[in-house]
Amino acid sequence: MAGPAFDQREGYIWYNGEYVDWKDAKLHVLSHGLHYGSTVFEGVRAYGGEIFKLKEHTDRLFRSAETLGMKVPYTKEELIEQQKDILKKEGLTDAYLRPVIWRGSELMGISAQANRINVAIAAWDWPSYFKPEDRLKGLRLTVAEWCRPDPRTIPCHAKAAGLYMICTLSKHKAENDGFNDAMMLDFEGNIAEATGANIFFTKDGALHTPVPDCFLDGITRQTVVDLARRRGIEVIERKIRPEEMADFDECFLTGTAVEVTPVASIDKYSFKPGAITTQLMDDYTNEAHPHALAAE
Ligand SMILES: Cc1ncc(COP(=O)(O)O)c(C=O)c1O
Repeated sequence: MAGPAFDQREGYIWYNGEYVDWKDAKLHVLSHGLHYGSTVFEGVRAYGGEIFKLKEHTDRLFRSAETLGMKVPYTKEELIEQQKDILKKEGLTDAYLRPVIWRGSELMGISAQANRINVAIAAWDWPSYFKPEDRLKGLRLTVAEWCRPDPRTIPCHAKAAGLYMICTLSKHKAENDGFNDAMMLDFEGNIAEATGANIFFTKDGALHTPVPDCFLDGITRQTVVDLARRRGIEVIERKIRPEEMADFDECFLTGTAVEVTPVASIDKYSFKPGAITTQLMDDYTNEAHPHALAAE
């Protein structure tokens, strides 16, 4: 996305209870969140001025913080109101919101029991960029070398910064090799997810998607499962081996950022965005921003 660097934008960021000038929303280099990964965050979208699944995202933010032992110094209701408020203050309608919570710089070391729990929310303009016909071309993915770790080794259901280290490594490698993204296997070699989105396949009119037992059960994933079931499409959540990709017809990713985005290939396996993918893309658009289709 072109535009000024993210620390050089105009506007305000809500930071520990007050609005600060965007360019002044800084933290100290000795922040625990930076050195030891004690940071959790959300990625939320607003369409036509309405924040989609705001409660679900805020619930997950609090669950993530709790998993990392961080007591959020605000209530859920306060942060829900704050997210609505920042949209209004910034005059945004189609936007991305990034709430973030991290341990501060009072003590430097692994133990940081008394460090301040900081909370900030930034929001910026983010319309849906891609026309449906462009998105239907599909993404090209490659299988990552890094895999999603054993759930006994990391808090895999928290949206925590530390879990993204292998995602960035995998995505960089994929991009450098000419792909759009990487698909990660889990520690047992099953298909897991992309670097910032969940994955679905279709076979004989049914949806197949990995059980989210060692990665994020995305809010978009849950929405799409629900939309598919409402359409009478069977949804099978199970362990999926990579060799099975030879027998799948369609493939798509789901996530707050990518919404429902078709995948054209994963290494040697090709998929053709078809009826189920296009149906669910439309259904998701209708669910998330019902006015968009009417306006086209
Ligand atoms: C690693 C990862 N998996 C899945 C998702 C999809 O989650 P959601 O649909 O809640 O945005 C995301 C995006 O937040 C993600 O970063």
